[in-house]
Amino acid sequence: MLFSAVQPSGLLTIANYLGVLCHWKEMQDSYDCIYCIADLHAMTAKKKIYKKKNKNENIKTILDTLALYLACGVDPNESIVFLQSQVLEHTQLNWILNCYTNLGELFRMTQFKVKSKNENASINSGLLTYPILMASDILLYDVDKVLVGEDQKQHIELTKKIARRVNGIYSKEIFTIPSVVITKSGSRIKSLLDPTKKMSKSDFNRNSSIFMLDNIELINKKFAKAVTDSENPANISFNKQKKPGVSNLLEILSALKNIPIIELEKFFLNKTYLDLKLMICQTVKNKLLPIQEKYFLYRKDEEYLKDILFRGATKAKKRAKETIKRLFSVLN
Ligand code: TRP
Repeated sequence: MLFSAVQPSGLLTIANYLGVLCHWKEMQDSYDCIYCIADLHAMTAKKKIYKKKNKNENIKTILDTLALYLACGVDPNESIVFLQSQVLEHTQLNWILNCYTNLGELFRMTQFKVKSKNENASINSGLLTYPILMASDILLYDVDKVLVGEDQKQHIELTKKIARRVNGIYSKEIFTIPSVVITKSGSRIKSLLDPTKKMSKSDFNRNSSIFMLDNIELINKKFAKAVTDSENPANISFNKQKKPGVSNLLEILSALKNIPIIELEKFFLNKTYLDLKLMICQTVKNKLLPIQEKYFLYRKDEEYLKDILFRGATKAKKRAKETIKRLFSVLN
């Protein structure tokens, strides 16, 4: 059994796609899969909590995300697809695991350090305890595999540590210890305008990121503006320190085409940066257009989407309840 999740935001980027989503269909063919929409995790983004909100904004982004899952080939009849907040056991286990996690372990998480630095003084505690909710997501379902981008690896290591700790304290295999499946390319993809930073769905400059639902003209414009360098003649080679912009473009193309960067360097010998950008635009278009077409079809039928979530939550709850029962058989 394999577990994976994405935080809902209608604005998923190609980094999210290459990081996790693009692997889900193929995983579904080999494993029983559980795909979660992690809406409780999405609440930790401060601006989401404190900003005045439009009514129904959350459910819209949740359905956007679900429609994208389906457009990427997730089949709700084969996999369990569900919304985190509809299965209350996640928050229940979250509290219990809080009490088996040391503060020091949470403060050491790289993602927390980075995010709390950017947010200055006012950070909410959800940002700190975020990995415990992730541990709850995973451990509720007895999964043996978790698929994540490289940036989440540390959180999965902590999940295993907490699971081993609880099993150890009660001398019982309450939780299954999962192994991690890391996808490298998504988290290596950088901002198009500042290739020293990660490509992010929350970047305030929309031209830094390619969103999965961007129309093709916009994508072409964004790549046209993407930073390269001023080497003359053009030199299309991979060197993160000296040529971060060009390296990022090579990384994106390599991930999309599943071709090693070395091969691309050979192909682009004596070619221009425009040649490179044109090929990327064509490749992105070939990948995204069919997904976008399917997305818009699925997105129209909200009743169908809500029904998928209802059925998914019902299946997920059944499994989650068993884990909670097993846990309470030793706790009480
Ligand atoms: N935190 C993950 C991310 O931002 C999403 C996520 C939430 C997740 N819960 C999870 C991933 C459990 C794997 C397992 O990418």
